[in-house]
Amino acid sequence: MQKDNLYVDLGDRAYSIHISPNGVSNVKSLLDEHVSAEKYFLISDSNVAELYATQIKDALDIESTYICSVGEGAKSFAVFEEICEQFLSNAVTRKSAIIALGGGVVGDLAGFVASSLLRGVKFVQIPTTLLAQVDSSVGGKTAINSKHGKNLIGAFYQPQLVIADTGTLSTLPKRQIYAGYAEVLKYALINDPGFFVWLDENAASVLQGDQGALEYAIRKSCEKKADIVARDEREGGCRALLNLGHTFAHALELEAGYDGTLLHGEAVMIGMRMAMEFSVHMNICPKEDLDRLKAHYSKFDLMPEYKIKSDADTLIKAMTKDKKNIRDTIVFILLKGLGKAYVDTEISRDNVKEFLVKYLKAIQT
Ligand code: NAD
Ligand code: GLY
Repeated sequence: MQKDNLYVDLGDRAYSIHISPNGVSNVKSLLDEHVSAEKYFLISDSNVAELYATQIKDALDIESTYICSVGEGAKSFAVFEEICEQFLSNAVTRKSAIIALGGGVVGDLAGFVASSLLRGVKFVQIPTTLLAQVDSSVGGKTAINSKHGKNLIGAFYQPQLVIADTGTLSTLPKRQIYAGYAEVLKYALINDPGFFVWLDENAASVLQGDQGALEYAIRKSCEKKADIVARDEREGGCRALLNLGHTFAHALELEAGYDGTLLHGEAVMIGMRMAMEFSVHMNICPKEDLDRLKAHYSKFDLMPEYKIKSDADTLIKAMTKDKKNIRDTIVFILLKGLGKAYVDTEISRDNVKEFLVKYLKAIQT
């Protein structure tokens, strides 16, 4: 495979991540070079389709298009079934490719359809949110939701190509840019203090949509994700680090109810700060590092306005549903400092409760 851009090194399932401000305009040549499917099928949501589907349809011969509703509700059995039946009616084959054009919702849904139809058809991600460009489109996690929880039905299924067109972010609402920024900051906190320093100097440009700053931040994030995924595709080890902040975030999302009140990236933004405060509480992380993180949040106004309503016991109950838990132990990604994340499986519930009671009291007064 030609290493033209960025590359996820997964042997015979390796693929490129093409990052540029004009990927959508160049979709035909990129697909001819990397995918060469017999037929293309398109999945998008109504917001994104209105903005970008025409360009894709003008460039490619699209056999069938499915436009889902906007938001988490589209990651459902009903929508999954409708898409599968529609594409089967349009004679999808194993040499067809499904293109996901949209944010993480469309990518997760389309990827699961691609993994299931005919036991697997080709798959292309064209992520159009910052969150999807730096996280969900890379690494092959696909899923729909169950009444038992989010992302509980899915598959690891890698795309053949990711086209991250930074130009599409110019139409993305500011709130979504801030939510996506949480996943960018996550990579710095996991293992790259130098990237944290860069973000502390350049986050304003990223958040304001400066193309050069965005491209640098997206490339750096994708490099980090590609490296971790190549080492641990199925989350047996280091991939769990990508869940920094997510143990708290998932509990907050459950509380908020997936209705847009609290976006996933916003929950991660709160959750990462809680993870660091918890690490300091446990004497694992120096307080100066937490102070630097807090200063970064203040400087760029990163903390979402969300008010936590649950008590400590309710949050702990929600955390016990996390997929990465090992038997009864809640698994936390904690920090020994900025850029020093690790997986901790030894935290007792008493420690979590003590921290949460203190934390909730502090933010509620
Ligand atoms: P999203 O897909 O709901 O998109 C956010 C909003 O932005 C939507 O209203 C969408 O219509 C709109 N939008 C998208 N692109 C746009 C553009 N360029 N211009 C204008 N509007 C645009 O949300 P998201 O934050 O991208 O993704 C969240 C989902 O991703 C969740 O379901 C989460 O579980 C999943 N996720 C998956 C992974 C993974 O590894 N697979 C990782 C993180 C998150
Ligand atoms: N977003 C977490 C992962 O891809 O593993």
